[in-house]
Amino acid sequence: MSNVLKGTIARYGIRPDTRSVLLRAFALLVCVSIWILPAGAQPAPAKSAVATAHPLATRAGEEILAAGGNAFDAAVAISAALAVVEPYASGLGGGGFWLLHEADSGRQIVVDGREVAPAAATRDMYLDARGNPRPGITMDGPLAAGIPGEPAALVHLAKRYGRLPLATSLAPAIRYADEGIEISRGIGMGLKFRAEAARKSPAFAALYLPGGEPRQAGATVRFRDLARTLQRLAADGHDGFYRGDVARRLVAGVQAAGGIWTRDDLAAYKVIEREPIRVQYRGATLVMVPPPSSGGVVLGDTLNILRAYDLASLPSVERKHLTIEALRRAYRDRAMYLGDPAFVSMPIERLLSPWYADGQRTSIRLDRATPSDNLPGIAPDTGGGTNTTHFSVLDKAGNRVAGTLSINTWFGAAFIPPGTGVILNNEMDDFSIKTGTPNGFELLGTAANAIAPGKRMLSSMSPTFIESPRGVAILGTPGGSRIISMVLLSAMAWMDGVDAEQMASLKRYHHQYYPDVVAYEEGAFTADEKAGLEARGHKLELSQRSFGNMQVVTWDRETGRVDAASDPRGGGEVTVY
Ligand code: GLY
Repeated sequence: MSNVLKGTIARYGIRPDTRSVLLRAFALLVCVSIWILPAGAQPAPAKSAVATAHPLATRAGEEILAAGGNAFDAAVAISAALAVVEPYASGLGGGGFWLLHEADSGRQIVVDGREVAPAAATRDMYLDARGNPRPGITMDGPLAAGIPGEPAALVHLAKRYGRLPLATSLAPAIRYADEGIEISRGIGMGLKFRAEAARKSPAFAALYLPGGEPRQAGATVRFRDLARTLQRLAADGHDGFYRGDVARRLVAGVQAAGGIWTRDDLAAYKVIEREPIRVQYRGATLVMVPPPSSGGVVLGDTLNILRAYDLASLPSVERKHLTIEALRRAYRDRAMYLGDPAFVSMPIERLLSPWYADGQRTSIRLDRATPSDNLPGIAPDTGGGTNTTHFSVLDKAGNRVAGTLSINTWFGAAFIPPGTGVILNNEMDDFSIKTGTPNGFELLGTAANAIAPGKRMLSSMSPTFIESPRGVAILGTPGGSRIISMVLLSAMAWMDGVDAEQMASLKRYHHQYYPDVVAYEEGAFTADEKAGLEARGHKLELSQRSFGNMQVVTWDRETGRVDAASDPRGGGEVTVY
């Protein structure tokens, strides 16, 4: 830059003393702008964008942005709206991770609103006298539920990062709950899966199974108890949920049905702010969530293994084979090492170091799959549906949020404590209840993810930012254990040049160490690729389970273009304005 200035000075024949004043002024200007513009500060996008899994949640975000809110206020509105309109996927009875980027400061932070095990939880609480897992007990009813984190996270987001009062951002959700919403196809499908468990919860059954049968899509239902709980949260903040009348009803309902929550468990709940994990890959920085989500470590581990290969120059079957082999090894590390950082010491620096990836690569052959049994690790003793939700938001100031929220499987524990309208999660199933026993997503774990009072269960939720000279992508998806591989494939595709639409609709495949199979969607592999993978020894399994519901926002730095896309597999909606 100073050469440009020197050139200009020479061209216009400016006198030497004036020259020196100009050069000094320029140097001062540079210093001042470096001081004023914080690290990471970028020009603002021309438009806002919202992508969520439900049109009414997208409208809630839009409404709050239009009312002068920022992306963080919109995140509160969207999260709360999703609790009403997509009640089988996330809600006040669950938790999540909100990855934030503050445009002014360039600061990036993860708000960890993950559930915690109640104080009376014990390592073997789901095993019988012989040490065998008791079937269904981690899935249905209040014993399956961790202490929820989402209400605390919403209060924290509004107070610490928002511009609008919490009550303003919660208003659309309160309106939806109070006026009623139409039962969607998603709700109808979830009810079909969970009707048997749900019949044991009178408050759940009264709302969703009138006369004992699941409500049909198209009916309009009002959620008055949920509206009242949201109103308490809006009026009293954190205490509106975790103390007082709502807390009393939650605990009474849980204990009456055999659960172990106490008022102290609720009063003790706190969100935690965490530093994201950052990994460089092909000139881009991926900003991801750290434990207690496994997302960032597994994504980083996988990308570090892959970075040594010139994937673009390889035949597609080799590219996919290597991606599967990298995932196999990274998911093994998930099973072996990861848990809640407050309880276990994890070798994260080692797992994300280039030398570790070098070591992982030495066992990968181009011509053959490595059976998972051949990797040192844990074998399963034996051989669910998934539900979670994701949204992505960008505001005109450049603030961003990637939020992935969950109550775990369809309708969580399928249990509502009477008088609250709150569907409880069944995230206790995300703990490893016994080494070698797979959870609902067939994931294995060790003592690192064993149950302990106050511990956060390991998650796969992976809200992610990708930042590169091309621009920024904000992405994430539901999908249980498959979340991480879905984010990986879409992130790599974006780095290859695809747009938001293609990221969301990409055909997907997945390997998670155990079971030792490659699950895939129709269209993910060509006939030649299938033959090539099978010849290498991969066992391919056409997936019966839904493969995600990705929500993407992208911002192209060069053109200024802002795009958003909602997965064609779901019923979501986007807005860019
Ligand atoms: N409950 C799904 C996850 O957190 O991974």
